[in-house]
Amino acid sequence: MVNMSSTTNQRTLLSKMATGDGHGENSPYFDGWKAYDNNPFHLTQNPQGVIQMGLAENQLSFELIEQWVLNNPQASICTAQGLQEFKDTAIFQDYHGLPEFRYAVANFMGKVRGNRVTFNPDRIVMSGGATGAHEMIAFCLADPGDAFLVPTPYYPGFDRDLRWRTGVQLIPVVCESENNFRITRSALEEAYERAQEDNIRVKGLLITNPSNPLGTILDRETLVSLVSFINEKNIHLVCDEIYAATVFSQPAFVSIAEVIEQENVSCNRDLIHIVYSLSKDMGFPGFRVGIVYSYNDAVVNCARKMSSFGLVSTQTQHLIASMLSDDEFVDTFIVESAKRLARRYTTFTRGLAQVNIGCLKSNGGLFIWMDLRRLLKEKTFEAEMALWRVIINEVKLNVSPGASFHCSEPGWFRVCFANMDDLTMQVALRRIITFALQNKEAAVLPAIKRQCWQNNLGRLSLSFRRFDDFTMSPMSPHSPIQSPLVRAT
Ligand SMILES: Cc1ncc(COP(=O)(O)O)c(C=O)c1O
Repeated sequence: MVNMSSTTNQRTLLSKMATGDGHGENSPYFDGWKAYDNNPFHLTQNPQGVIQMGLAENQLSFELIEQWVLNNPQASICTAQGLQEFKDTAIFQDYHGLPEFRYAVANFMGKVRGNRVTFNPDRIVMSGGATGAHEMIAFCLADPGDAFLVPTPYYPGFDRDLRWRTGVQLIPVVCESENNFRITRSALEEAYERAQEDNIRVKGLLITNPSNPLGTILDRETLVSLVSFINEKNIHLVCDEIYAATVFSQPAFVSIAEVIEQENVSCNRDLIHIVYSLSKDMGFPGFRVGIVYSYNDAVVNCARKMSSFGLVSTQTQHLIASMLSDDEFVDTFIVESAKRLARRYTTFTRGLAQVNIGCLKSNGGLFIWMDLRRLLKEKTFEAEMALWRVIINEVKLNVSPGASFHCSEPGWFRVCFANMDDLTMQVALRRIITFALQNKEAAVLPAIKRQCWQNNLGRLSLSFRRFDDFTMSPMSPHSPIQSPLVRAT
């Protein structure tokens, strides 16, 4: 048990970093996870539990990977077929990484970008996931007190990854819903000037493309304007492209690598750095395969030395090298994974549209950016928090409130849709729909639902049956009638 005196004692005994809250685990983003941990949903064993929709995991194509692992037992090393390589793998500890690993990852990065651009294996530096890659790049580019500009809304983990141990600051570039959260030149200039007024040295701009939490991609024109902005200011551009292969429909993803190779773009390449990982595109967050790909030789050299603090295990490198070198498998996987994400996105957004819940139009990522602004009692972040608490505690869905992504406008929520099976997704969708029907004035419902709402619960359940037909799966045993919210009516 923690009491005041022991906390004070820890402050004396430990470092400021250890006793401070730089990790940010007190944010609602993590609170939602705790609610899930205390009462996790299970289709049969805990059907009233909290469904985890706060985790951006890609689990829709896992059986393809499992099949590959079964077909390639030598790649796993600790198998009869892999034993021959066991000793060499176990004793290898060079921070350059296995050459075949770097080559395979560089090749994969090119494939994911439609082979419109190639990557040099000698520029691949490994790290413990993109988390480690971001910290490494922050250490290489900035001193304590320096800052990176970051367009909002942005992934909450950046507050920890870039700032906690480095002492670097993040300055929000405020983007707004009225233009679909585009990153404008004026928003960039405003953030830059604000930093200058506060005597903060800006060392770079950090973008996430495709965006977490928006699921949108940056078009070529925006990327070109960002390149010219950072060149004018002589600051770095760090591009987190870890969702590159999650883009599931047109327009196609454009990597910063393609933009700087365009003939008409003038750019000092020493300023450009890509952060990548296999956590999202392959669905391997557990393997902790992160990459810094820098066009700056000095950064590559320094990052490589720093990578000793977060190397990818050689066994994992060996497995990944074998898997990503299998061109036929990789090509099929990339196409099939995108198809499945597209299907999930469509099912989910169409389901929400039935009750007039809108989302930002997107074509990538593992989530939607759901617009619940009109369910807010008032346009404040307190009201967003209150709504979020109801969603967690009563609707039993762990979605993430916009405030935790530094969104400038209350009422947006990120909802992850690729970390669960079809049946769980249907239960989640049904819960949101039930909640929306209970909370909306009849006036804002589409005509068909208005009729349904004005009638009785029997009609309501019929409407869900139609919805189930639409999602092409058998009716789950968990009828909306059993929902605590429906019972409450
Ligand atoms: C934009 C972004 N960057 C980095 C990370 C961290 O990824 P990793 O698991 O590879 O550390 C995440 C994880 O959700 C993310 O969304």
